[in-house]
Amino acid sequence: MKERIVNDDRDIARRLARRHADLCVTGGTVVTPSGYTPCDIVCLGGKIVALDATGWTARTTLHALGLHVLPGVIDSQVHFREPGLTHKENLETGTRGAVLGGVTAVFEMPNTNPLTLTAADLQAKLDRAHGRAWCDYAFYMGGSAVNAEQLAELERLPGCAGVKVFMGSSFGDLLADDEDVLRRIVRHGTRRMAVHAEDEARLRERKALAQASGDVRDHPVWRDVTSALTATQRIVGLAAEAGRRLHVLHVSTAEEMAFLAHHKRRVSVEVTPHHLTLAAPECYERLGTLAQMNPPVREQHHQDALWRAIRDGIVDVLGSDHAPHTLDEKQQPYPTSPSGMTGVQTLLPIMLDHVHAGRLTLERLVDLTSAGPARLFGLAGKGRIAVGYDADLTLVDLRARREITNRWMASVAAWTPYHGKSVTGWPMATVVRGHVVAKDAALIGEPVGQPIEFLEATANPVDF
Ligand code: DOR
Repeated sequence: MKERIVNDDRDIARRLARRHADLCVTGGTVVTPSGYTPCDIVCLGGKIVALDATGWTARTTLHALGLHVLPGVIDSQVHFREPGLTHKENLETGTRGAVLGGVTAVFEMPNTNPLTLTAADLQAKLDRAHGRAWCDYAFYMGGSAVNAEQLAELERLPGCAGVKVFMGSSFGDLLADDEDVLRRIVRHGTRRMAVHAEDEARLRERKALAQASGDVRDHPVWRDVTSALTATQRIVGLAAEAGRRLHVLHVSTAEEMAFLAHHKRRVSVEVTPHHLTLAAPECYERLGTLAQMNPPVREQHHQDALWRAIRDGIVDVLGSDHAPHTLDEKQQPYPTSPSGMTGVQTLLPIMLDHVHAGRLTLERLVDLTSAGPARLFGLAGKGRIAVGYDADLTLVDLRARREITNRWMASVAAWTPYHGKSVTGWPMATVVRGHVVAKDAALIGEPVGQPIEFLEATANPVDF
């Protein structure tokens, strides 16, 4: 292993000296830390080695004239269902959808079957992803009563994105709602802990409402604002007690945003494209249970508050919460129908359309999908286009007008709530560590995905 690395290093040193790159991206408008820059990107050995291709030759050249080149989009919340639920999704199709949608790295969630609760569960996912993932990946460890005391160790394992806690039951059996269990989880570990904040006791109490009506329009009535706010306040309190950093996933209410605005020093905030794009009751009338998601898509004034929170800087990252279920499953009568929709492939097209509509700037989008996750989670070498960083690039055409269709979906579930929607702004090519893996809606080459490295996970001595 060590010998191979030394040989690879020698080869790279030789090619650096000869100025022969793996890939040059030329002629694009590049979003760098200095702003929009018309420059080239020279990639060698998986890294960016220069931002000026003068004097370089390359095995592959990607012409980006008329395109914007963004740092690779990182989707920090996806459910890829492997192992155990592969009739909905698997690591190959999930990551295929990712790169077709311009995503270069994903954090995958632990509510698979088995749940991800041990080092062996994590290793099994890493083994399954090896050679099959099209983008880079990391896996969350579930936090529960059975592994609370081991979490400080588990969260530092290579390939682990950190600990994820479900305070309210959503899909799968992962649940930690008991005060004592939550306290044990929060106290065992130091990395930023991700949480699905809905109050389980209140959800149970109110489920009869949904059962009585059988109407998906009541989804945000059953899982109401108080369910979300109570859980968010509770976990922020427990994290404060322990001095633990927290990441509140898919925040969906104006009330939570107002509360979280006062806790920004240690608490980070995710919003999803569906909460920013769909609104009740219209989405339920048009899409039925396809719009059913936890926490629910709510009324317009909540969506407006999420957009305000993006503008005010309260929101740190966007995650798709890609949570596929088959159409058959979704067609069961509400509330038996499972919550969840696809999202990894549509995250960027939907958000570019919002950029086109003037709802956020392209710079803010890059902050939410690249710089934001890199900053919060301490990603080694990712999140910006700069010399020395991983050559993860998302090339987009801000003017391309395209239609999102079910046919375009790589997901096993094969549907999107945005079927038939026209958007302006489209991913044209995706580069993962210097490999062009998708271009013009087609996959290229082999799945080259590798585990993401985190600064807070066990350090790999060869990576300095
Ligand atoms: O609607 C949801 N479905 N929300 C979640 O947080 C989990 C997810 C799933 O795994 O299906």
